[in-house]
Order: sequence, then C-alpha cells, then structure tokens
Amino acid sequence: MTEAAFSAKTFIQQQKPNFTPKLGLILGSGLSDVANSLEDATTIPYADIPGFIQTTISGHAGVLSLGYLNGVPTVCLQGRIHYYEGFKNEIVKTYIRTLKLLGIEILFLTNAAGSLHQDVPAGSLMMITDHINFQGHNPLIGLNDEAFGPRFFGMEEAYDLELRELLVSVAKDLEIHLAQGVYISALGPMFETPAEIRAFRLLGADAVGMSTVPEVIVARHCGLRVAAISAITNLAAGMNTDALTHEDTLHNGQKAAKILQKLIFGFVRELS
Ligand code: HPA
Repeated sequence: MTEAAFSAKTFIQQQKPNFTPKLGLILGSGLSDVANSLEDATTIPYADIPGFIQTTISGHAGVLSLGYLNGVPTVCLQGRIHYYEGFKNEIVKTYIRTLKLLGIEILFLTNAAGSLHQDVPAGSLMMITDHINFQGHNPLIGLNDEAFGPRFFGMEEAYDLELRELLVSVAKDLEIHLAQGVYISALGPMFETPAEIRAFRLLGADAVGMSTVPEVIVARHCGLRVAAISAITNLAAGMNTDALTHEDTLHNGQKAAKILQKLIFGFVRELS
C-alpha cells in the first residue's frame, strides 16, 4: 500500500509547507516527552493522516509532530502500533515510508524494554547494536515495492555504526551510562515466561521488547540510517520477585525518559 505513504506525505506537507525533516524520531511507551521540546511545532493526530491508525495502547499519544529539535528539522511519531494490536504489515510500511518520503535520512527509535542483565536495571539506557526478530512475522512479506528498495537486502549493519559511535561519545560527554546490546523482539502482548527469558539469553539477547524490529526492517529496506535506544523499564520475567505490569513499564519509562531526552538532545546537537 505504497499509495498510502504518498497520500500521508502530501497531507502532512500541506499542514506544514516548506518543511523537510532530516531526522525521524519514534518515541516508545511513556517516552513522548521529547516531542514537547520541538520548536515551531505542528502536531497532527494519526487519526487525521491517511493510512495512519490510532494506536490502542496507553502511554502512546498517537500524534505526529513536526518541528525543530536543537535546530534540526525533525518529525516525531509519538506512539507506534504493534503487531499484537492486530494491524497489518501495511501500516508499519506506511509509517516508515511516509517519513522517508518526507525527506528524513536518519531514523532514531526508542522503546521500553526488559533487561536480561541484573547489572542493567530499570531506569538504564541500552543502545541497540543488533536485533533478533522473534516475532515470527515480517513487515516486508508480500509484493516488493522496488520504488523503496530491493527484494533482498542485507541487515549486517542495521544499526548504523557511525551513529552508534556518535551516541557513545555523546553519552560519555554527558556522563550518561549507556549499556549496549542485542534487542530481541517478542510478539507480545503478554510479557515473557521465565523459561522464554532463559532461552532468549542463550540466543544472545540482552533486552526484550515487543516493537522496533518491524520498523527497523522497513527503514533499512528503504536505505534509512537507523539508531535505537531501549529505555530499560524492568528486569525481564523471572529475574526478580515482582510481577511485571504495564503500569510499572510506564512509571519506570518516565525515569529513563529524562536521561534519554538529554542523550537525544546531545546527539541532535552533534548532527546539526
Ligand atoms: N518484555 C517485553 N516487552 C517489554 C518488557 C518486557 O519485559 N518491558 C517493557 N517492554
């Protein structure tokens, strides 16, 4: 449904003419605050944008904002959709390809995730160095749209090395502890069993969540450079005695969000 991305792009450009974003930001559960710092912001509810769908999850605002972040023209997606909400592949393609058509070169994703390491507790940040797609699903299933990218393509450096080096150096300057690791995407919506977490550790995962990977696949297909940070909201299932809840995720996400915001500002300053 490539047409949807073209319609969405045209509609968005009508709301803010002569604005070409260079950076796309996708803000995960409870991490929307960064968007409030956009200058000269124009905000559009997803429900108004052709091909976009209102997310059903609390903590996801469901709006697209355009404005300047530290001088860099930026488009923010506050809230994302997840496969467990029952949406089709086309929706993820539409979101990411719309950002591509608007002109972004870099896609920066954030998410809430569970940590598989006791020494990376709730409130920490983890830069994603690579991922494991464990959703049993792929947004590119179906006919390939050559206008966006080739049928077959590599994922060796899905998370751009130069951007990762920049994030590490910005974090160091700001004295932010930035863990690094592999993100595994489970389908959800339930949190994992302790046995699944043990299995994920054996597979080489460092953090677990229910998002991001589909967006990264579509973004890499159309040649966007990708950076991603997980805000650790909990230790994964079975790693402590507390039961996991979405409320805890949102609450702990708020804590990590403040540091994440500093990191994003620093990163964007370097980009400009
Ligand atoms: N598992 C899956 N998704 C998550 C988690 C988790 O522990 N925490 C936040 N999102």
